[in-house]
Amino acid sequence: SIENKVDSLLSIMTLEEKIGQMNQYNGFWDVTGPTPENGDAAKKYEHLRKGYVGSMLNVTGVENVRTVQKIAVEETRLGIPLIIGFDVIHGYKTLSPIPLAEAASWDLQAIKKSAEVAALEASAAGINWTFAPMVDISRDARWGRVMEGAGEDTFLGSKIAVARVEGFQGDDLSTHNTIAACAKHWAGYGFAESGKDYNTVDVGTSTLNNIIFPPFKATVDAGVRTFMNSFNELNGIPATGNAYLQRYVLKGSWEFDGFVVSDWGSMSEMIAHGYAENKKHAAELSANAGSDMDMESYAYVAELANLVNEGKVSEAHINDAVKRILRVKFELGLFDDPYKYCDASREKEVTGSQEIHDAVLEMAKKSIVLLKNENNTLPLKKEGQKIALIGALADDKTSPLGSWRIGAEDGTAISVLEGMQQYKNNQLTFAKGANVITGGASFPFELNINTNDKSEFSKAINTAKNADVVVMVLGEHAFQSGEARSRALLGLPGVQQELLEAVYAVNKNIVLVLNNGRPLTIPWADAHIPAIVEAWHLGTQSGNAIAQVLYGDYNPSGKLPMTFPRSVGQLPIYYNFKNTGRPSANEPNSVFWSHYTDESNTPLYPFGHGLSYTTFQYSNLHVNVVNTNTVEVSFSLKNTGSAKGKEVAQLYIRDLFASVTRPVKELKGFELVALESGETKQITITLTEDELGFYNNTGEFVVEPGDFMVFVGGSSNTVLEKKFKL
Ligand code: IFM
Repeated sequence: SIENKVDSLLSIMTLEEKIGQMNQYNGFWDVTGPTPENGDAAKKYEHLRKGYVGSMLNVTGVENVRTVQKIAVEETRLGIPLIIGFDVIHGYKTLSPIPLAEAASWDLQAIKKSAEVAALEASAAGINWTFAPMVDISRDARWGRVMEGAGEDTFLGSKIAVARVEGFQGDDLSTHNTIAACAKHWAGYGFAESGKDYNTVDVGTSTLNNIIFPPFKATVDAGVRTFMNSFNELNGIPATGNAYLQRYVLKGSWEFDGFVVSDWGSMSEMIAHGYAENKKHAAELSANAGSDMDMESYAYVAELANLVNEGKVSEAHINDAVKRILRVKFELGLFDDPYKYCDASREKEVTGSQEIHDAVLEMAKKSIVLLKNENNTLPLKKEGQKIALIGALADDKTSPLGSWRIGAEDGTAISVLEGMQQYKNNQLTFAKGANVITGGASFPFELNINTNDKSEFSKAINTAKNADVVVMVLGEHAFQSGEARSRALLGLPGVQQELLEAVYAVNKNIVLVLNNGRPLTIPWADAHIPAIVEAWHLGTQSGNAIAQVLYGDYNPSGKLPMTFPRSVGQLPIYYNFKNTGRPSANEPNSVFWSHYTDESNTPLYPFGHGLSYTTFQYSNLHVNVVNTNTVEVSFSLKNTGSAKGKEVAQLYIRDLFASVTRPVKELKGFELVALESGETKQITITLTEDELGFYNNTGEFVVEPGDFMVFVGGSSNTVLEKKFKL
């Protein structure tokens, strides 16, 4: 068995070789070139040859991976293969939509398929481990990394986390087209104070157990093989040195038997946090807390042996970490064939294959959310219209790829302009209007995105004047969201709002297509623009997907996985908030209730919102309480419009009185339903104790009998409700 093999290998390893397995190096250089003689890379080669490296990240492509693998296998004493990690976040070279966009599909099969094709392409390029999925729940759109997660909701986030793990890992990790997944960032990273990346996280047990932990737990139950520490401190202790997280919860209560990798340099960052005195202390704290692999802190390789010899870290802890790492390597089949991901002909055949392009196009269409559509502005007519397409992002072939896509080449996305040009029976003119000027560097180095250039305003206004309809593609360039891209202002960046208003002054018939990695504050657009399409950053096939939706060849069905605020001052804003003792004004002139004096409490677009080119009607809500652990909820859903379409029917509950207060609404079920025009379907969703219960403040999962509400509808602003008693 694998366990026997792990034990027998471990028994012949020296302490240094064991620590080597716990060391991961970045390989951002030409590993097929001449061996560097000095500097960082030279040291890494020396360590590789000695067997002091267990894993590398950012070495990609069959030739490169084979080169480093050959050193590990042929030149080290024990020949233990490397595990090769990479950020396959939403595809490798062929990109699917950013994860937040995929979450908007609420289509678990499609999301699983998207991860599956990402694994297919990555594994053909030598990669056998992805640092995905990011399962951090976040309620704060200022945080740039919301683009990489599934949004604000734990229930939806948990389902999506599982779909992604299943997609990456498949049923059998040892086949050559599946890769190990990594649930990250453990834990609390999405709750950074003020939405500022890496910032302090201080949350109570209820939020930890009910909101932050469940998606992680769901990945463990789904068999995820690795976890990654988060950069933040959690309640005073940096996650990487946090024994409660690693030893008590993850490896203790949840019995996780895979391994935990640190985030990049997060061990040594504990010095800046003020938790570790120096690098040696950081290594000690991390190892004792249960962080198994050091990504680029150089702390384990330099300090662990001394710490063991001094008795500060037990060899039992080292053995446990190494066993976990070896276990995953055996499961991947690396000991049977270390070069199984290094087949050059397979790499050629699979990279950018039709199957992958078809899958990412499907995913892109499913990810689009129709936020507003007055007067049937959309879909566009297919002929005889003069259409003005405006916005630099409409002609951009890099930005749609999104953030966190380091394997893809710039300029490989289909732009909106290219997508729309395929509909030839309309007269299409294009003007940039507001330029988006980038320095030209690829992720992750591009920081300066200039969206203040107005030199092309007048061209855009002239084009708009003569058009029947104006399509404006505005929003964030990909590099304006993602890691370290927190924003304090969430409007359209730069002069784009000004452009929108200037165009509106000459032509009000505007379709606004948003590109963005996070919810934006666009109250003016909502009040004035008749049609708004949320198109996120949709990946390689972006322009094709958007054009098909604009022209009605695809009926959108996406629903927001994150609330859109009216203004930044409302943040954090989320649908599953708790009531206060003064939730609303019960007298007309009441002052002392929970509200803002200068802004409404309601969001601009609620969680779960999304329209279609058809309409849906909900009716006949029935609740059947079978017993205290089983409640059947059924209702009818009718397509009342003239087009066929899909609707994400959503079910929420509220536990009205509990020993720990419960949110005003919690998503507990949903179904993606396809309906022909005029068709009605009966939907039944069964709630079990998993959905009816919650973690109380002692960490116990309880279902408390009493009064509940159930709500049903096409968004968190539900349309049907019923009370029931458990
Ligand atoms: O996987 C990432 C992580 O999410 C952020 N820091 C770097 C890691 C590896 O690239």
